[in-house]
Amino acid sequence: MTPGKSSVEDLKRRVVASAKLPLEHAMSLPPEVYTSEAYFDYEVATVLSRSWMGVAHVSQLKKPGDYVNIDLLGEPLLVIRAKDGEIRVLSRVCPHRAMDVMSPANDAAASETGNAPILVCPYHRWSFDLDGKLKGCPEMHEAVDFNKEDWGLSEFRSEIWQGFVFVDFSGEAEPLETQFAGWSEIIAPWKVAEMQMTTEMEWIVDANWKVMVENWAESYHHLGSHHSSLHVQMPAGMTWCEQTDDNVLRCHLPYKPELVAELKAAAAAGNPPSGFRPIQGLTEAQQNEWGVWVGLPCFMFLTGPDRTIWYRLQPLSAGKCKLTTTTLVDPANFADPDYEKTLTEQNAMLADFHMEDMAMYPGVQRGLNSRAARPGRLSHLEDPVLRLQRYLARRIEEDGRRNSKGVSRVSESEAVL
Ligand code: FES
Ligand SMILES: [Fe+2]
Repeated sequence: MTPGKSSVEDLKRRVVASAKLPLEHAMSLPPEVYTSEAYFDYEVATVLSRSWMGVAHVSQLKKPGDYVNIDLLGEPLLVIRAKDGEIRVLSRVCPHRAMDVMSPANDAAASETGNAPILVCPYHRWSFDLDGKLKGCPEMHEAVDFNKEDWGLSEFRSEIWQGFVFVDFSGEAEPLETQFAGWSEIIAPWKVAEMQMTTEMEWIVDANWKVMVENWAESYHHLGSHHSSLHVQMPAGMTWCEQTDDNVLRCHLPYKPELVAELKAAAAAGNPPSGFRPIQGLTEAQQNEWGVWVGLPCFMFLTGPDRTIWYRLQPLSAGKCKLTTTTLVDPANFADPDYEKTLTEQNAMLADFHMEDMAMYPGVQRGLNSRAARPGRLSHLEDPVLRLQRYLARRIEEDGRRNSKGVSRVSESEAVL
């Protein structure tokens, strides 16, 4: 083994050991966990492709033929509403000779989102209904024992939770209503399934997916990255984290008391806060904080008093991710005469504080690649970072149990033979 290159087995052991530390002794993970391609492949195989991954929101898929193309963990996917009203996650791999049926070579499907009345593979023009069934296949009449019903697009297991479409490549993840049971109850007042996605901004980020999730969940970095922006309203020292379900982190970012008093006085004087229409039915605490959530491993979601924000993450390699930042609002906002102005202002604000985070990710990733990098000590405000480690350690241990069962199954069957 090359010096400084740990094996995946060694890194797994170190993640499990790190996760066992109490918060007051907690450390960040070994740097190679963020930089090793072999470890990334291990995480894809045992965590990411065995978990529910968010791919779209129903407001992007209102009518039959509406679609979202997304490449996730190397899989070209098509999220589409069919004529029967069902939303499915289909493979874009043509069952003929593997062309991407929604490739940019296909004029009708060149964009990432859009509407298609039928799906036509650009290579030999096999065509598919919106539910993936093969509809047309020119010049195949001489192929013997060729049955069209055997040659549709493959479908992956999907579920819709609170209006978000998720895919699970393993087919074995626990249903989302079970995994996110406590969360479903808490976010009910936001009526997320009825919200409309208004903004999507795409970013390629030179950082490991866990760098992104850790940064999303911990607000200790308000002190640095957002010192003059978010920290002024939601000081790092007031933030805290809890776990509503085994797979859900809930981080509270309360407004500082002076801001709460200011907003109260302004409301009493008939001046509502800037932004979108306030969401009805929130508690006073919910109106006066941002809720940062992680549906583990990497569904990053934010609830605010007037909107929700979803960061759609596509891990690409150990050191690269694609991120789509979105804002969702109650469609009632669209009737407001100032809506477009508000949207422009709020998007600019979102982009501003996002750029503050973007400035950190590549610097962290470069540091993690350094010979000098080593696990660092965590603040109590980085509780979510430790909770992510504990989740990952649990997944490593689950994988170990699954493998040892597999091994014993094989040896039992060998014994019979
Ligand atoms: S590869 Fe799609 S029609 Fe041939
Ligand atoms: Fe941030």
